[in-house]
Parts: sequence; C-alpha cells; structure tokens
Amino acid sequence: MSIAAAREVAQVLNAKPNAVLGMATGSTPLGLYQELVRMYARRELDFSHVTTFNLDEYVGLPVSHPQSYHHFMHEHFFRHVNIPPQNVHIPSGTTTNYAAFCDWYEQRIREAGGIDLQILGIGSDGHIAFNEPGSSLSSRTRLKTLAKSTIDDNARFFKERDEVPIYAITMGVGTILEARRVLLLATGKNKAGAVAAAVEGPVASMITASALQMHPNTQVLLDEEAASSLKMRDYYDWVQEKKPNAPKV
Ligand code: F6R
Repeated sequence: MSIAAAREVAQVLNAKPNAVLGMATGSTPLGLYQELVRMYARRELDFSHVTTFNLDEYVGLPVSHPQSYHHFMHEHFFRHVNIPPQNVHIPSGTTTNYAAFCDWYEQRIREAGGIDLQILGIGSDGHIAFNEPGSSLSSRTRLKTLAKSTIDDNARFFKERDEVPIYAITMGVGTILEARRVLLLATGKNKAGAVAAAVEGPVASMITASALQMHPNTQVLLDEEAASSLKMRDYYDWVQEKKPNAPKV
C-alpha cells in the first residue's frame, strides 16, 4: 500500500515539481514517508519546490514534544528530504489566538494555490483529519474536541491516557474537499468498519470520511484487512483487472 501511495505522490511531483501536498500523521502514512525518503535518496524525487500543509496538530503540545505532529513530521519525513523549511506548514498547537490562526492557515493554503494532493488516514470512528463524528461536512480549519475513542486510539503513543491532548487544530472537511486529489490510506482490521462505512455507506457527518464520496478525484488504498468489510470487493477487483484495457479518457 505504501509503495502504491508513493508512486501516486511521485506521479504528482513529476507532473508538477512545485506541487502543494497535504500531509497526514499517525501510523498509517509512515511506510509512505519511508518510501518517499528512499526515492529521494535514490534521486528519483526532488522536493525543493514542494509546499506542504499538515492536516492537524494537538493543542497544548510544544513543537519539541515527542508526540507533537511537528515532531513526528520532522523525525519521519522533513529532516530526510529537501523541502525548504519556509514551505512547511503545520497547524500551531500553542498559538494564543486559535481563531485568527485557523483563518491564517486557510489563507496560506489559498495563497499557495490550493492543495494538489491530500494524503489522509482514517480514524476507527471514520474521521478524516480530526473531524470527529458530527463535524459539519463543510467545516474549515478550526479547534476540535477529540472523541473519547480517538483519545483511546492515540493513547498508545503516550505513557498515560491522561497525557493525550483533548483538543486539536484540524483542517475542516470542507478544506479537505477542496484538494484537487485525495489519497485515503488505511491498514488493519480495526479500520475495516470505518472504511466500509466511508466508501459504501451513506454520506453522513457521523462518518466524515464518507464526504469523500462527493469528491471528484479520491483514491482509496487499502491492505487486505482494511478492505475486509467491503461488500463490493469483487467489483473493485474486477475494475482493477479490467482497467488496463479500458478506453483512455
Ligand atoms: C492524523 C490524522 C488522523 C489519522 C487517523 C488515523 O494527521 O489526521 O485522522 O489519520 O486518526 O491514525 P492512524 O494512522 O495512527 O491509525
């Protein structure tokens, strides 16, 4: 899955070296970032004109905190590739004025020309970024209270559950839907229900990933386990098999 995702990112960068990438954190995109770092080391990719916007950040964690998304991105990706630091954007979890910061973040995305490719994971509750169940499907970057199930899911990264932040700054569903292309990645059995609800269920704010059904160019990349609850699995395999012979559009 990670290699397939890296190929998609490479295709975007080859077509547009100054592409704007939307980045996700968490366990899911780790393999993708490792693969992109490998491709960069083999000189197959150049990030010198790339701009990035991360989806979200915990509120209250300083950038140096080992579980902050700033730290995650630096450790797993940015310090290994040549994206100019001034082109990297990650929501601030320590600003004094969240509303003003969120407006500025949206404005920066617009000024950069919008996001060409947004990488997404999915929460076990169907969230994208930290748009928890019930989030408006036209929401913009804002402060959100995390669902208890998300706090439980993310407690694995912290010593104590009590240390998991309760609030986050997150791009909205509406912000994500404006990306020109979206890659949704998921692995593991615990994502199977959310993936099936997002892909095959009704479009509903209770599963914010389902809003991607309304997006004109979203690709879902899954491992076997994450795909295991899809009802139309045979059809998707059939489509992939027949794709090479389809008339070119
Ligand atoms: C992270 C993010 C979240 C995660 C999701 C899945 O930036 O936006 O929506 O993608 O919670 O997390 P993992 O990949 O750790 O299972």
